[in-house]
Amino acid sequence: MTGVAFRNLSKSFGQHKVLEDINLDIDSGEFVVLVGPSGCGKSTLLRMLAGLEPISNGDLLIGGTRANDLPPQKRNIAMVFQSYALFPHLTASENIGFGPKIRGESAAVVDKKIKDAAAILNLHDYLDRYPRQLSGGQRQRVAMGRAIVREPKVFLFDEPLSNLDAQLRVQMRTEIKALHQRLKSTVVYVTHDQIEAMTMADRIVVMNQGKILQVGAPLELYDRPATKFVASFIGSPSMSFVSGGLRSSASGAHFETATGEKLSLNGGRSSSFSGPVEAGIRPEHFIIDDSTNGLQLKVDVIEPTGSETHIYGSIGGEQVRAVFRDRVSVRPGDTLPVTADPKNIHLFDKATGLPV
Ligand SMILES: Nc1ncnc2c1ncn2[C@@H]1O[C@H](COP(=O)(O)OP(=O)(O)O)[C@@H](O)[C@H]1O
Ligand SMILES: [Mg+2]
Repeated sequence: MTGVAFRNLSKSFGQHKVLEDINLDIDSGEFVVLVGPSGCGKSTLLRMLAGLEPISNGDLLIGGTRANDLPPQKRNIAMVFQSYALFPHLTASENIGFGPKIRGESAAVVDKKIKDAAAILNLHDYLDRYPRQLSGGQRQRVAMGRAIVREPKVFLFDEPLSNLDAQLRVQMRTEIKALHQRLKSTVVYVTHDQIEAMTMADRIVVMNQGKILQVGAPLELYDRPATKFVASFIGSPSMSFVSGGLRSSASGAHFETATGEKLSLNGGRSSSFSGPVEAGIRPEHFIIDDSTNGLQLKVDVIEPTGSETHIYGSIGGEQVRAVFRDRVSVRPGDTLPVTADPKNIHLFDKATGLPV
């Protein structure tokens, strides 16, 4: 098994710097997900790892050895793309066996590899079909089969599920995770879908504008986001933010909006920060509570999903979303008094987006 490391890696296209000072250690057998908005540099990082894109500065280590100049075919890495890039004139079986065959492996070996991959991927019934006769999910599996027969040390996936419908995506992400548990290979998986990241990753790497903002286990990022960007990117539906400031009073520190609505904070929490802040609250952390002077949530839209009630509205003019496990009888235009447990209130410096 093989780990991967990036050391002070950067990448420019001409004058345009797209990756800056990337440092990351990926353990052998680890499933790491790179997540971030479109254009932040995820594919470029993956392509540099695969050897498809030269590295401008810094070092890439594969299995502890500097690999900057190693040709792609010597890296022991297989990559699965969003567009499956199957040969249309070859059957599923021929597509999977193509690599080993042109590498000159014997017909018996190629055949065994195809059978083994088909068994892992549940593809035996489709091996004689051409890509046009396969569904999106089946094509995706053939593309993975092609990667598996290379017996790579590292699998790279670049948004492999983006072209699939919602239901199939859920199914395929479970399959990819199960595949990883069976093969125990190192996986670097790129997505812009934070649910995919949360559900699949051992560790998530959150990127924005060519930089790594935070690396951690999914729930670590969810519970302790290092910046407002991470806080708003991780979690679905995403965190709501209300502007205000920190004040201290006889009962301890509290957060207060411009219109005097208050949220009580932990006694231990510092109220020494005097600049504008934003209080971040996840939708599922709002509590309906009219016993204190909390926040006033003006209700715009109510969405009952059966198991939950989703409420869209605003607090002091800022858009928020709240999710309650119980049924809530409110109507558009009503005002709902809400608070949150102090441990679920994330405070960010409005100027820098850093926690205060
Ligand atoms: N071959 C290229 N030439 C110039 N700019 C590129 C090239 N490939 C990617 N870029 C730019 O690099 C940035 C990162 O792109 P990419 O890695 O594809 O982002 P992501 O995969 O996160 O959406 C984007 O601004 C993109 O326009
Ligand atoms: Mg991309």
